Amino acid sequence: MKTLEDIQALIGPDMGEVDHCISGRLRSEVVLINQIGAYIIKSGGKRLRPVIHLLCARALGYEGRYHIELAAIIEFIHTATLLHDDVVDSSELRRGQETANNLWGNAASVLVGDFLYSRAFQMMVDIGQMDIMRILANCTNTIAEGEVQQLLNIHDADTTEARYMEVIHNKTAKLFESASELAAVITDQPESIQQAMARYGMHLGSAFQLVDDVLDYRSDSEETGKNIGDDLAEGKPTLPLIYAIAQGSPEQAAVIRDAIETGGLTQIDAVRAAIESTGAIDYTARCARAEADQAIEALSGIPTSEYKDALSFLAEFAVNRSY
Ligand code: IPE
Ligand code: IPE
Ligand code: MG
Ligand code: MG
Ligand code: MG
Repeated sequence: MKTLEDIQALIGPDMGEVDHCISGRLRSEVVLINQIGAYIIKSGGKRLRPVIHLLCARALGYEGRYHIELAAIIEFIHTATLLHDDVVDSSELRRGQETANNLWGNAASVLVGDFLYSRAFQMMVDIGQMDIMRILANCTNTIAEGEVQQLLNIHDADTTEARYMEVIHNKTAKLFESASELAAVITDQPESIQQAMARYGMHLGSAFQLVDDVLDYRSDSEETGKNIGDDLAEGKPTLPLIYAIAQGSPEQAAVIRDAIETGGLTQIDAVRAAIESTGAIDYTARCARAEADQAIEALSGIPTSEYKDALSFLAEFAVNRSY
């Protein structure tokens, strides 16, 4: 197994059903909801969280039907967070095309995000299991907390690594955690396996966001489908900046502090040079590597299978990806 496409092929039939479920559940009597919903959902996201849920369910021998609906619910929640995220981040490019907020405006994006969130909750209620609803209700609440915590860190050059890690656990890793944990719940695993599966998703999701924050300085928009430098433009103190402030010369630290405090991209070249020369990119990548190793370690108690191998591969993908 070498590529994300190989993994997607491994659960191809399940994923086909998930896509079918997504299309069906996306429908509304309101034309604008159909338009924006279809625009964002069909724009070619990696479907990573549903893939993780399906692989975990298969790795744990699941033979029921809930994994399809749950994978769709998880992707709806993810998509709702993206619609909201692009508004709060003033982003103009997502998945290689114009963001919904750029095309239809902030109000429409926020409201269709709300539609997707609440549709996900309708689907959960249809499943009708309180433990599933509890996990997903807590998850969405935690994501919202993470986004608000991040808002409070914006333009604050004294943000610590610990505060940054809390933000990424909440805003990003929590949904990965729910995706893997729910597979253990629907397969009635013992508590220890449920916790291990939750740990897998949490560490993978942390690696994923650490790398996302590197790619915001390092990649290009052809590759990621997003505009590079969005984080600095918004004055977001991500780990590459936090580390470079701590390790850089007084001049380098001053440039980065100023860039965080004022936002904008006028100093992007100096900031980029500082995070490269202080080793801040390598440091962030090493943190992501350590998270991925812990994710793989969390799988040690589940039986060997091609699905388990695929889950290990995904932890590697989270670290090595360029998109
Ligand atoms: C983007 O997630 C949001 C982050 C948590 C960084 P993905 O990179 O999984 O987005 P898509 O769904 O593939 O576009
Ligand atoms: C992920 O953070 C936010 C969510 C959990 C929605 P980012 O704001 O860095 O995500 P991108 O880079 O816009 O995809
Ligand atoms: Mg964003
Ligand atoms: Mg954001
Ligand atoms: Mg980002």
